[in-house]
Amino acid sequence: MDGAPQPLQGAKVVVTGVTGQVAEPLACALARDNEVYGAARFHDPDARRRLESAGVRCVAFDLSAGEPSELPADADYVLNFAVAKTNDWDVDLQANCGGVAWLMEHHREARAFLHCSSTAVYKPMGHHVFAETDPLGDNHGVWRFLRTYSICKIAAEATARWAARRFELPTTIVRLSVPYGDGGGWPAVHLHMMINGSAIPVHVDAPSVYHPLHERDIARMVPAFLDAASVPATVVNWGGDAAVSIEEWCTYLGELTGIEARFEPTEHTIDSVQLDLTRMHEIAGRSAVDWKDGMRQMVAARHGELLKG
Ligand SMILES: NC(=O)c1ccc[n+]([C@@H]2O[C@H](COP(=O)([O-])OP(=O)(O)OC[C@H]3O[C@@H](n4cnc5c(N)ncnc54)[C@H](OP(=O)(O)O)[C@@H]3O)[C@@H](O)[C@H]2O)c1
Repeated sequence: MDGAPQPLQGAKVVVTGVTGQVAEPLACALARDNEVYGAARFHDPDARRRLESAGVRCVAFDLSAGEPSELPADADYVLNFAVAKTNDWDVDLQANCGGVAWLMEHHREARAFLHCSSTAVYKPMGHHVFAETDPLGDNHGVWRFLRTYSICKIAAEATARWAARRFELPTTIVRLSVPYGDGGGWPAVHLHMMINGSAIPVHVDAPSVYHPLHERDIARMVPAFLDAASVPATVVNWGGDAAVSIEEWCTYLGELTGIEARFEPTEHTIDSVQLDLTRMHEIAGRSAVDWKDGMRQMVAARHGELLKG
């Protein structure tokens, strides 16, 4: 694969979680050449306005409400980026697992279904480089404010695998690392902490390594993942080609802004999740946005006044 997936054109596409960090820029990019239905509860009316002005048709739906009959059942493609993170086990299991099952049943005639998972499904194993077949575990359980997250992401993957077979719906499950861009993301949270003078928690087993993936690469790679959808479901790691640590990206954000990053090593934060990207390369090629360029653009978009020079 030459790393240049063909963009989607003229398709009817449903994007759930459309007000979220990852799906909003993706839906706006897709709406240039496709009929895009963006689904969420729309707790954020500003996000709805931004989406509508980008040409996205907004449809209110709740993952935990049963069959999503508001959504067009004749969609060609469905991209599920919705995630419930209330920290309540009953609510989050119902929304993230039952919600995926209802969504896949409703869209059983689609050409492909993409379910967004997370590298938070992997069992913490220090500096191990994770392939898709590696052990799963409660990666994010160490964060009490996200205690349901990893287990719900694992359970949602299991639901999507079952539904792909049950409905013969070609499916790809992507395990996303650290998405970021002008719209935000974990590096943007760190920048905010640096501005406020807060120390950045990093794992004691330094450095804390991930694969930041820019929002433009996310939009560019989605069509290839849809092409790779299959029964049983395709499962693939999804991250930027560069393995970059929190220590490195915060130090770089400090160089850009003149604000020094302070780190607080602790056992009470998530461990590194470094990825084997072989399968992603086979399906969708390599990421194209250099991480330093992407982070500089992120600072310019969010705190342009801080950029030195
Ligand atoms: N951000 C990351 O660092 C990261 C890393 C790895 C993987 N991921 C995965 O990427 C995907 C997108 O994440 P994100 O960070 O963009 O999420 P996010 O910003 O937290 O947004 C979550 C989205 O889901 C919607 N939602 C929540 N509960 C819902 C419900 N009950 N019914 C319908 N919609 C609901 C929210 O809109 P309303 O509240 O308006 O309904 C929102 O649009 C998720 O699968 C996540 O696990 C994210």
